[in-house]
Amino acid sequence: MMDVEVRELMQAFVLSDYQVQEVYSRFCAEISKGLKRSTHALANTKCFPTYVQDLPTGDEMGKYLALDLGGTNFRVLLVSLKGHHDAMVESQIYAVPKDLMVGPGVELFDHIADCLARFVEKHEMRNSHLPLGFTFSFPCEQKGLKEAILTRWTKGFGCPGVEGEDVGRLLHEAIQRRGDAEIAVVAILNDTTGTLMSCAHRNADCRIGVIVGTGCNACYVEDVANVDLLHADFKRNQKDVLVNAEWGAFGESGQLDFVRTEYDREVDDTSINKSEQLFEKMTSGMYLGRLVRLILMRAMQSKVIFKLSNRREHFATALQKNEDVFETRFISEIESDSFPEFSKTRTIITELFGLEKASVEDCQKIKYICECVSKRAATLVAIGVSGLINRISDRRVVVGMDGSVYRYHPKFDAYMRNTMHKLVKSDKEFDIMLSEDGSGRGAALVAAVASKTK
Ligand code: BGC
Repeated sequence: MMDVEVRELMQAFVLSDYQVQEVYSRFCAEISKGLKRSTHALANTKCFPTYVQDLPTGDEMGKYLALDLGGTNFRVLLVSLKGHHDAMVESQIYAVPKDLMVGPGVELFDHIADCLARFVEKHEMRNSHLPLGFTFSFPCEQKGLKEAILTRWTKGFGCPGVEGEDVGRLLHEAIQRRGDAEIAVVAILNDTTGTLMSCAHRNADCRIGVIVGTGCNACYVEDVANVDLLHADFKRNQKDVLVNAEWGAFGESGQLDFVRTEYDREVDDTSINKSEQLFEKMTSGMYLGRLVRLILMRAMQSKVIFKLSNRREHFATALQKNEDVFETRFISEIESDSFPEFSKTRTIITELFGLEKASVEDCQKIKYICECVSKRAATLVAIGVSGLINRISDRRVVVGMDGSVYRYHPKFDAYMRNTMHKLVKSDKEFDIMLSEDGSGRGAALVAAVASKTK
């Protein structure tokens, strides 16, 4: 039996069936609001049309370049689509230094163009004129496949001079400034779109792409008739269009206030985008560790953990050091640890607090705290996914998933399925698949289907 005090401490993180249903209804209402021109401005979930209308068939061929910017790293990729649902990817990771994440936009784009040029040079592709797909994983209002206006930065980025601008143009200009490679940017896409495309490349039933990584978001296949926001001169001669829900922003009109805790409020208050991305702040890797850190601080203060130690003050100081000392990956490690050895948990406790022999009880309590935080995150993501599955007219829907939280957490998938079984309509069938390199393969596939359409 879990200790009563820690149960009480975590009570607010355990969502009741009523709360789950209520969040579900509010989420579905918000998606409808985002799609309609008349209510779009008021909606949190912007449901941006991506202008991608064709899912891949698996027959796509050719070589493409891809850029992937959106989390802690930046990548350049060379993707060879080989037909028969097959692809080969070569890639290079480049760090995005912290100061570039908040420095002038021009410098960020110069860095991107720089890395791209180095990659092209290394692969001797200077004059190969390969088409390029740019996976830019931030909320963008797309005016077409190649034009994407950044509406706001998220996930710790905050470069001035980019919001309100077309990131396709900024990239093009940075490439021109260098003047040493001829590269045509043929598509800009979100990572969720890439995930959906790369999973659809393997499984024809895939209709939704979800990321639970540094940030959290989804893209899905919507009936064109429901999408008011498409450009007037856009030909509506196809049945579907992919929509980037931007669900990370859900809750900004107070819809989640009845389930948010004091810890959620503090994480938000101390973030660089206060009052924004509230759903994301309860579900994604950038914030889950911060939540656990705040709960641990409270647990120590009220002697719920490390009860017998006289070094609690010292432990509290260790947690105060900075908001990211308790990394989100620790949650995955602790939840995959086994009773009663708790070897990973003990290593983390030693690293953080210098405490060598934490008791089994303390390890169990810390594990329970992590479980409550990640289970709530998975439940919320599952609410969103179920809402989208129920909107889609196909009876069978496969959900493509990616992101470090989903990928490395031992039970995130199981937690999600649990909630989905309660919410997905009984006449539907669903499955979840792990995406393989959505940002790279997905970018190439968008570029490929775009040229097919042309
Ligand atoms: C962004 C989305 C992105 C998600 C996952 C969010 O912060 O707004 O565009 O898809 O992170 O990377």
